[in-house]
Amino acid sequence: MNVLVTGGTGYIGSHTCLQMLEMGYTPVLLDNFSNSKASVLDRIEEVSGTRPVLITGDILDKNLLVETMKRYGISAVIHFAGLKSVGESVSEPLKYYSNNVSGTLCLVEAMSECNIKTLIFSSSATVYGDPSTVPINEGFPTSATNPYGRSKLMVEECLNDFYKANPDWSITLLRYFNPVGAHPSGKLGEDPNGIPNNLMPFISQVAVGKRECLNVFGGDYPTPDGTGVRDYIHVMDLARGHIAALNKVGHSKGIHIYNLGTGRGSSVLEMIEAFEKASNKKVAYKMVDRRPGDVAECWADPQKAQKELGWYAQLEVEQMAIDTWRWQSNNPNGYHD
Ligand code: NAD
Ligand code: UD1
Repeated sequence: MNVLVTGGTGYIGSHTCLQMLEMGYTPVLLDNFSNSKASVLDRIEEVSGTRPVLITGDILDKNLLVETMKRYGISAVIHFAGLKSVGESVSEPLKYYSNNVSGTLCLVEAMSECNIKTLIFSSSATVYGDPSTVPINEGFPTSATNPYGRSKLMVEECLNDFYKANPDWSITLLRYFNPVGAHPSGKLGEDPNGIPNNLMPFISQVAVGKRECLNVFGGDYPTPDGTGVRDYIHVMDLARGHIAALNKVGHSKGIHIYNLGTGRGSSVLEMIEAFEKASNKKVAYKMVDRRPGDVAECWADPQKAQKELGWYAQLEVEQMAIDTWRWQSNNPNGYHD
C-alpha cells in the first residue's frame, strides 16, 4: 500500500516512515524542508535498508500533490506537514493559518480529485485548551489559546464538516500529547531549530553542554511538586499509533478521533531526574515564573485508542530519556553532523 506522508522528514513523520517500512507499507514522503533536513533520508535508509521516495515540495502546491498521488498510486495520506511553534504562531498568525489550515484544505482537494478517501491528521492535545479536569477524554470540550492551537482546531472542524458532506471518507484525527524520545538506534531524533521551546529537547541540550541552565516555568502549580505535569509519549509509540489507526480504521468510513498519550503524567522535576539518570549528567536548572498560557496538568485518557485500535503506549519515561540521550549525545548538532 502506497501512503503519502506529508511532513515525512520531520520528527514524528520520519519515525513513522521507518515503522511503515518495517510493516510493509510504502511511504512516499513529501516535505518542503521548512523544519527538517534532507539527510534524514540517509538515516532512514541506514536503519531500514530502504530509501523511500521523497518529493521536495509544498502541500500548498495542489498540482504537485495531484501529480504525486497519481504517479505513485497513493491510497491513503498521513498528514504531518505543518508549523508547530506556539510563540511564532502568536507573532506570525497568518503563516500558521496559511500553512496549517489552507495547506490541509489544499491536500484534501487534491485527495478528492484523485479519489483518495483515507486521511490521518496530526492534531494535538492543545485542542483541549485549559481542561477542567484530568485525565482528558475525546469528548472533552475543545478550545484554543493561541493561533497554533486554533489552526489545529480549525482543521479538525473543517474536516468534520467535510466528512458530513462526504460520508464515504475515513478521516482520523490523532490528538498527540507530548511526543519525546528518539529511535533506539540513535540515528533519528528531534532536531529543533534554535532555542528549543519544549522541555525535553531543552533538557537534553543542557545535559550535552549546549545550554547552561534550564528555566523551570513555575514551581507553584497545584501539583505534587509544584511543577507542570504532562503526558510524555515516546515517539516510537506514537509512530505505532499511526499504523494502528491505518490498519484498524483507515478503511472504515467515519471521522475517528483518538488521544495518543500514555495516561500517565510526569512533572518537570521528574523529567529532569529521569534524564539525569539516563545521561549520568547533572541538569542545571532554576525556578522562574510560569510561562503564560501553560496549564498545570494535562494528561490523556487513552482508553478509546486501546479499545478501538488495540494500541497503547508501552514505553516509560525512563526509556524516553535513554533514547533522547543516545540521539543527543551521538548527534550533538542534530542532523547537521
Ligand atoms: P516537524 O516540524 O519536525 O515536522 C513537520 C514537517 O512538515 C517538517 O519536516 C516540515 O519541513 C514539514 N512542512 C511544514 N510545512 C510544510 C508545507 N507547507 N509543505 C510541506 N512540508 C511542510 O514537527 P513534528 O513534531 O514532526 O510534528 C508533526 C505534526 O504533528 C505537526 O503537524 C505538528 O503540529 C503535530 N504535533 C506535533 C507535536 C509535537 O510536540 N511534536 C504535538 C502535537 C501535534
Ligand atoms: C507545548 C505547547 C503546545 C504543543 C506542545 C507540543 C505551549 C504553551 N504549548 O505544550 O501547544 O502542542 O508543546 O509538544 O507552548 N517547561 C519548562 N521549561 C522549558 C520548557 C518547558 O519548565 O524550557 C515546562 C512547561 O512549563 C510544561 C512542561 O515543561 O510544564 C512541558 O512543556 P512543553 O514541552 O513546552 O510542552 P507543553 O507546554 O505541554
